[in-house]
Amino acid sequence: MTDTREKPAENIPTISAAKLSTKELGRISNLQVIVKEETPFLPKVAFTLITLASLGGAIFTGLGFGLTAPELGLRWFAIWTLALAGGFLIWRLCYLREVEAGLDAEAVGALVSTALKRADQVARIVGILVLVGAACTLFVSYFNFVPFIKYLVLASMIGLGALLIFGVSRRSIALPAAILAGVLLVSWGILDAGLDWNGAIRILHLTAFTLWLGGALWNIAVAMPSGRQHPDVTAVLAGARQLDRFRWVVRFSLPTIIITGLIMASVFTVLPMSWWLTFPGILIPLKVLTIVALVVVFITCPLFRQCSPVQGVCNIEDLQSPAKTA
Ligand code: HEM
Repeated sequence: MTDTREKPAENIPTISAAKLSTKELGRISNLQVIVKEETPFLPKVAFTLITLASLGGAIFTGLGFGLTAPELGLRWFAIWTLALAGGFLIWRLCYLREVEAGLDAEAVGALVSTALKRADQVARIVGILVLVGAACTLFVSYFNFVPFIKYLVLASMIGLGALLIFGVSRRSIALPAAILAGVLLVSWGILDAGLDWNGAIRILHLTAFTLWLGGALWNIAVAMPSGRQHPDVTAVLAGARQLDRFRWVVRFSLPTIIITGLIMASVFTVLPMSWWLTFPGILIPLKVLTIVALVVVFITCPLFRQCSPVQGVCNIEDLQSPAKTA
């Protein structure tokens, strides 16, 4: 059900006129913000696809270490919670800005305060998941060969989980939490693939996955609900800027995941086609299919205005004069 009630354009943003064309100036005076009740579908599809691809990758790698089925699941869960936390924290620290150039500070402040309250609630849940993930690492058998890394990963994940439960609204908490997530990603990459270029490729693969998955979580669980509560033009512009910063990161993550994935997969090209078409080899082509689906989602999302229920956040051009909606 779409909320078509007209929002009178009282919150006209104090964007410096110099930045806007005559056409845009004309449009601002009649801006109207429409808010859809339903949460767009495509971002949830992207979140699920990234999760499935990570599961495929973790199973493939875990089988290489001779892990049992329960260990595969527990290890994947630990990596997945780490990725949720890492990307979520980067949105909070880097894409969200308390002050947006040219936008009314009070209106931006109102949106940010709602977003941070919501982020604290979501971070608490992610924090608990990370603590469960920390416990999961205790059951991953090959960790026992490197006790130092095992306990570094355990202690860092407990620290990360605790900081997230404290809440990410304060930068003084969010920043050390993000650093811990970074330490964990690097440790995990080195543990699995070594200290040479293989390790570097794995760390890049995991970093791209983390920025994408955690960012997708923030968009669905924080940006959309808080955007709905502030259906005014300034909040739309501020929300659109945050989403655009995330999109630039996805423009990095997508090719990075593909290139690092292909490099890691190239090791197995010596194996016959039958290996690629049977388990576990088939996990790699399946991941390639997942990434193709994600490219389609990434392209169609803005096309169908699916990145946000608040009109204008997905594409500023959608802020339209009342005449058009009559
Ligand atoms: C959104 C897409 C993707 C995500 C989220 C993702 C995530 C992951 C994760 C979490 C791992 C496990 C790392 C570990 O267990 O330490 C992994 C491993 C792997 N990924 Fe991906 N991946 C994606 C796409 C791809 C693509 C497109 C390819 C191939 C072209 C690829 C090839 C690999 C390979 C070969 C491994 C295993 C490396 C090894 O153990 O030797 N990935 N991936």
